[in-house]
Amino acid sequence: MSTPHISAEPGDFASAVIMPGDPYRADRMAQAVLVEPKIISDVRGIRAYTGEYGGRRLSIMASGMGMPSITIYATELYRFYGVERIVRVGTAGGIAAHVERGDVLVALGAHTTSAMNELRIPSVHFSAVADFRLAAEAVAAALGDPQVKVGTVVSEDHFYFKVPGAMEALAAHGVLGVEMEAAGLYGVAAAEGKAALAVLTVSDHLLAAGRDMTSEERETQFDRALELGLAAALA
Ligand code: HPA
Repeated sequence: MSTPHISAEPGDFASAVIMPGDPYRADRMAQAVLVEPKIISDVRGIRAYTGEYGGRRLSIMASGMGMPSITIYATELYRFYGVERIVRVGTAGGIAAHVERGDVLVALGAHTTSAMNELRIPSVHFSAVADFRLAAEAVAAALGDPQVKVGTVVSEDHFYFKVPGAMEALAAHGVLGVEMEAAGLYGVAAAEGKAALAVLTVSDHLLAAGRDMTSEERETQFDRALELGLAAALA
């Protein structure tokens, strides 16, 4: 069996999938955390791995960039491969004043500029929310770390275009950061009756000046986001 975008066989995927955006990150994560990772799909440069982590089966597969990409993979995983939980482990730009580079965001909900969820139920402005249990497990695993912030993000279609004033207005509404996938993922999870969460490392800040993270800091904090994502996915 294969789907248009995944070449795995039935049963190849674990019930939990960790999903970074970048396919190279997925390769490195699989090597770093999985015991005996096996490549189960390789289509369009998106490799999927299944192995063991802490004695449990776990899969890792990248989403690519943006909501059209992540919604394709998430739909096929949930609908055709028996996947129950997808935890996106990615990056975000900070927008709230109290968010700093290197922080980890647990995205309880995702506002969006995308029409993807609007199309689901005509006349409804859909609320894209994380699975409560996954979010609670990620927050519990953070053990009160002040660098882990819990709240909403905004999922945008554009990386380079911003409506003037929009980021400031979102920050004034308590939105922590901006990324490009969570709202799409949460919409698919709702439609398929499955669970999803996004845990995001803040790689830059759109509204606060300051130095960028060093590559070492990026890796360390990315590991932290992965740690919380694993705790949620395997709880
Ligand atoms: N926009 C969208 N996604 C991002 C950004 C951004 O500015 N920074 C990191 N991920």
